Amino acid sequence: MTWTINRVVVIGSGTMGGGIAAHFANAGIRVHLMDLAPRELSPEEHEEGLKLADRRVRNRIVRASLERFRKHTPPAFFTPAAADLITLGNLDDDEAFISEGDWIIEAIVESLEPKQELVARIDRLRKPKSIVTSNTSGIPIQKIAANASRDFKLHFLGTHFFNPPRYMKLLEVIPTRDTGPDVLAFVREFAAERLGKSVVICKDTPNFIANRLASVSGATVVDFALANNYTVEETDAIAGPVIGRPKTAAFRLQDLVGLDIASAVASNLYGLIEHDESREVLNSPRIESLRDRQIEKGRLGDKTGQGFYRKGGEKILSLDLVTGEYRERVEPRIPSLDEALKIRDTPSRLKFVLKQDDKAGKMARHVVYNALGYAARRIPEISDDISNIDRAVRWGFSHDLGPFETWDALGVSETAEAMEAFGVAVAPWVRQMLAAGTESFYLRQNGELRVYDPALAEYVKVSQDPKAIVLSDLKKAGRLVRENRGASLIDLGHSVLCLEFHTKLNTLDAEIVAMLLESIQEVEQGNWKGLVIGNDGNDFCAGADPAGMRAGNRASTESAVRGLQDALMKIRFCRKPVVAAPFGRTLGAGVEVTMVAARIVVASETYMGLVEVAVGLIPAGGGCKELIRRVVSPPMHGSATTDPLPLTRKVLKTIGTARVSTSAEGARSMGFISETDRVVMNREYLLHEAKREVLALADQGHEPPVRERTCFAAGAKVLAKLRAEIGSLERSGTASAYDAWVSNRLAYVLCGGDSASGEWMDEQFLLDLERSVFVELSSQKRAMSDEQ
Ligand code: NAI
Repeated sequence: MTWTINRVVVIGSGTMGGGIAAHFANAGIRVHLMDLAPRELSPEEHEEGLKLADRRVRNRIVRASLERFRKHTPPAFFTPAAADLITLGNLDDDEAFISEGDWIIEAIVESLEPKQELVARIDRLRKPKSIVTSNTSGIPIQKIAANASRDFKLHFLGTHFFNPPRYMKLLEVIPTRDTGPDVLAFVREFAAERLGKSVVICKDTPNFIANRLASVSGATVVDFALANNYTVEETDAIAGPVIGRPKTAAFRLQDLVGLDIASAVASNLYGLIEHDESREVLNSPRIESLRDRQIEKGRLGDKTGQGFYRKGGEKILSLDLVTGEYRERVEPRIPSLDEALKIRDTPSRLKFVLKQDDKAGKMARHVVYNALGYAARRIPEISDDISNIDRAVRWGFSHDLGPFETWDALGVSETAEAMEAFGVAVAPWVRQMLAAGTESFYLRQNGELRVYDPALAEYVKVSQDPKAIVLSDLKKAGRLVRENRGASLIDLGHSVLCLEFHTKLNTLDAEIVAMLLESIQEVEQGNWKGLVIGNDGNDFCAGADPAGMRAGNRASTESAVRGLQDALMKIRFCRKPVVAAPFGRTLGAGVEVTMVAARIVVASETYMGLVEVAVGLIPAGGGCKELIRRVVSPPMHGSATTDPLPLTRKVLKTIGTARVSTSAEGARSMGFISETDRVVMNREYLLHEAKREVLALADQGHEPPVRERTCFAAGAKVLAKLRAEIGSLERSGTASAYDAWVSNRLAYVLCGGDSASGEWMDEQFLLDLERSVFVELSSQKRAMSDEQ
C-alpha cells in the first residue's frame, strides 16, 4: 500500500507545528496550518472595533505564528514563496480542513488530555486511510490514541522532530503496537526522501532515544561541574569538541534549549522512569537550586538574552556559578586542553584527555564513562539495536561518535574495566559479550559493517540505506582509484567516478587542481561513463585556497588563476558527463567548479555565493563568465528588444555584494543553478542521486557544449549606467571609495571590457578579462599591504 501526500494538515502552530508546516512547504507540499481561535479580543482588536466573530480575529493565533516563521532566523522557509503553500485556519471554523488531509500532524501543547481530545476529533473527521501523527517529546504514543478507532490506530504513529525542524537532521519515528507496517515503512521513506530527514525508529519509551540519553548525560555534566567547582567556561571547554561533542557542550546547550524547557523535560522524565537506576541525577538538588535561582531572575537562556552566558556590549559575560553574578570570561587554564585540541582525530583526542590527571581528565572520565555505561544499560529498554542508539546521538546531538562507536574506539574491554574501577556499572550483556571473547560492538567483515546484537549474542549486518553512499567506506573497500594530499578519485560503481576534495574546509588548492585534471583525463580515456564531483565533508568547498591563488608576484598569480580556469574549462567541455554535487557552504571557487558541470545535483541545504569582493577581489575562475552566460544571455537570445541593463545589474549585485544564498532554491533564483538542475532534500542521498544523473546523461548520449559565442556582454552604454549607479552609492556613503573601485572593475568585466556595444562573446574572452582584473586587484592589495 502506498500513499500520495498532496495535502498536509498541521494542528498547533507553535515552535514545532509552525516549523514542521514550513518544512513540508519547503518540500513543495500544500499545508493547512491550524490553531485555536482566540477566546477574547486583544486590546488592539478592541480598539479597531473588531468582533470576536471576525475572521481576522479568529485566525489571529495562527496568523501571528506564520508571520513569526516568515521572519525567522535562521530562515524556516527555503524561499519566501514557499510560505504561500500554507493556508491558515482555526479549529472552530475550519474543522473541514481535517477531512482534506492525506497526513494530519498533531503538534499541540505537551499534555495528554488535550492531545486525546484532539485525536477523538480527528478520528471523527479524517478521511479513511489518511495518516495521523503526534509530535510529542515524551507522552506515550500508545496512550494518545488509546480510545481511537481501529482504522485510526492502524494509521497512527509518533514523530519526534527536533527543533528547528528544517535544520535538524534526526527524526525519531515511533510506531505503536497497532501501527500498520506499511504505514511505518511509508512514513520512514517519505521522511527520508521528501523531508530529507535521517530516521531512527524508536520504541514507545519516555523521551525515546536521543532525548533520554541527552537529558541524563546533560544533567551528569552539570551536576559534576557544580559538585567540583568547575566554571562554566571550563565545563564547556571540556564537554565540547575535546571529547567529540559540539561546541554547545553543556551550559551553552542549556542556554539554547531554555532553562524552563530543560527543567520541565527533566522533571517530566524523572516521573516516568522510576525503574531507571540513573534517574536521581535529573533531580539533583544542586542543579535544582541553580535552576530555581536562574529561572527566578528570568535568566532562561538565549530567548531572554541571558542564561549561563550574557551578551554585555561586545563581550560575552559568563555566570559565576558561586556568586550567581555575571563576570568577564575567564579562559580555562588547563594545559592538557590546548594539547588535546591539536589532535585532529576524535578517538586519539579522547584517549589523550581520559588519561589526564587534571580537571579535564577528571570531568571527561566522569562524563564519558557514565554516558557509555548508561547507553548500554538502556538496551533493550529503548532499543534492541546498538546502531540505532549511535545514530540517534550523532544525528540528534551532533556528537562525532555515538556511545558504542566511542566505546569501540577506546577499546571495549579496557574501557569496561576502567568504568568499573571508576564506579560505573557495566551492563551484564556487555560483560557476557566480553566473557565470550567478543571484543567490539562493530566489526567490518569483507567490506560489510556488522554490529553486535545483544539478544542474539552475535554480529548482524548493520541496516544501511542503499541510497546513502559513504566515500570513506568505499575507500576502505578498496575502491580508491588514485589520490594526492588534496583530493581522491573513487570508483562509485556502475562505471562512475567521484572526485572528492579533502583539504581543510575543502578549499580548492593546487593539489585539487592537479587531481581535477587527472580525473578528466581518466574519465575521458578510461572505460568510465562519467564523473561526480562531491564529498563527505561538512561543506562542499569554502573557496580557493587564498595562499595558493594570490601568493608571490603578478606572474605567479596570473599563472595560478590561468591554471584554475583551464582546469575548469576542461570540466565544462569534458566529453563524458560531469555532475557537481554541492551542499553546505559552497563559496567562491566552489561555485565556479559547480557551474561548469554538465548538471548540478544540489542538496537543499546549500549556501552558495561568489564572495571574492569581501576580500577586495573578483571571481576569476569563471564565476563572472558563468553568471553572464546563465543570467544575462538566455533572455537576450532571439530578442532585439530585451534590455541587458537589469540583467547585468542583477549579476553585479550578486557578485558585488558577496551575497550567499540561504538554500539551494535561493541559489537557483540568484542564477547559480538552473531549471534543469535538481535539488535533493536528503544530503545523505546526494552522491547516489548525482551518480544516477551521470548514468542518465550518459544513456542519453551526452555531448559537451559547442564552443561558440555563448555570453552576451552588455557593452559601454550599460557600463556607463552601472558606473553612474556605483558613483551615487559612493557619494551617499553606502559604498566606500575602495568598494566602489572594486565594483567598477567588476562592472567592466561583466560588460565585456572595452566592448563598445552589446555583443556575443566567447567564454575565453571573458575568462581573460576576469583574470587580468583579478591580477590587477590582487597587485593593488599587495601594494596596499606593503605600504601599511
Ligand atoms: P508551543 O507551545 O510552541 O505550541 C503549541 C501550539 O499549540 C500553540 O500555538 C497553541 O496555541 C496550540 N494549542 C494548544 N492547545 C491546543 C489545542 N487544544 N488545540 C489546538 N491547538 C492547541 O509548543 P511546541 O514547542 O510547538 O510543542 C508542540 C509539541 O511538540 C509538544 O508536544 C512538544 O512536547 C513537542 N516537541 C517540542 C519540541 C521543542 O523543541 N519545542 C521538540 C520536539 C517535540
